[in-house]
Amino acid sequence: MKEHYYFDNAATSWPKPESVYQYMDQFFRAYGVNPGRSGHTLAVEAETMIGQTRRLIGGFFSFTGDSGRVVFTQNATDSLNLCFRGLVESGDHVIITRLEHNSVLRPANHMERDGGVSVTRLGGDGAGYVDPEDVRKAITAKTKMVVVNHASNVLGTLQDIESIGRVVAETDALFVVDTCQTAGVVPIDMHRCHIDVLVFTGHKGLFGPSGMGGMIVGEGVNIQPTKTGGTGVNSVSDFHPDDYPYRLEAGTVSIPGIAGLNAAQRWFAELGNQLLDKNGAECASHQEATQVALTHIHEQEVGVTRRLIEAFADLPGVILYGPRGNSPRVATFTINIGEMPAEQAGAMLDADHGLCVRPGLHCAPLVHRDYGTLERNGSIRFAPGFFTDDEDTELALEAVTELAEYQASR
Ligand SMILES: Cc1ncc(COP(=O)(O)O)c(C=O)c1O
Repeated sequence: MKEHYYFDNAATSWPKPESVYQYMDQFFRAYGVNPGRSGHTLAVEAETMIGQTRRLIGGFFSFTGDSGRVVFTQNATDSLNLCFRGLVESGDHVIITRLEHNSVLRPANHMERDGGVSVTRLGGDGAGYVDPEDVRKAITAKTKMVVVNHASNVLGTLQDIESIGRVVAETDALFVVDTCQTAGVVPIDMHRCHIDVLVFTGHKGLFGPSGMGGMIVGEGVNIQPTKTGGTGVNSVSDFHPDDYPYRLEAGTVSIPGIAGLNAAQRWFAELGNQLLDKNGAECASHQEATQVALTHIHEQEVGVTRRLIEAFADLPGVILYGPRGNSPRVATFTINIGEMPAEQAGAMLDADHGLCVRPGLHCAPLVHRDYGTLERNGSIRFAPGFFTDDEDTELALEAVTELAEYQASR
């Protein structure tokens, strides 16, 4: 029996692969110095690891441009703020969706209220899918940027970013994709999807630590820095360097954070090679191996979700939100149990069973407004991850059955 049954992987993945913990500890002890800047052996080792991580992350998203355009930030929120503040100006138009997280909604709202920017918020259909034709119709000559959440962190709806990207690529607008819920969960090909800026966070599907994120800035896209300062290069200049990654990386980067992402990338590749039954000199390329791993991870996670959804659908009073059947999705989904407030249900599942789920609005208020769950303070989110096992799944089934029957009997 476990103490905790973790179904909050959409908030952050837990646990991480063991090799992530080990490498972060080892690397930080051995080379936790200021990278590059000092030029001594330890600093060069740290800089080499950072450069390798940029290349691994680039390959992971099939990015073939200069790996210096893989920029590290604090988190996806930081990267998205950079997109809004560094790409959009007064008079511009921006398209976002109603499925966005507050890390997109709020920068857009602020720029609309204070910055002379107009914003279109596109809704999805009943299951939360955005129609690429709606994107086409919303684009005007003033549209600077289209921002799409690849998968909803409330409903699990997986958007067709390839079709949306094709539509945006026919115009002058930039296509920015928030991959927080899909990076490390489904394969993403930045070029095939015509993504201009791919935003990622490190601590969810990418299995890195908290406080670590980034973005891949496509060739030809120039984001204006919102922070300037030390970079360890060209220090004599009065002004911040123009070239990537320094352009967007002012100050010291997180060595433990990047080491964590590095180890996780190698873990994905190892898993892929195992699935391909390859080792040693035979190993597949990082890109090929990780794509195989991701397909496997996605199938496994969604398999757990389909099992839970099927069982929950038969329980008294359980309301399920989001895609059903074989519609494209990630593992995350939400429910409500009769009239019980989501927070109360979450607290009872935790206290009585050690089940860790996330009740509330999940920082995506417009989704809850559209689904009528705002006034009841949201819904209860289940987010299985790669390390969710049969024991976790059985416990979740048992706990929700008990709570639904209790609620129905009141
Ligand atoms: C879809 C989506 N976008 C953005 C974010 C923000 O990520 P971070 O808190 O790492 O900045 C999250 C995190 O919950 C998310 O789910």
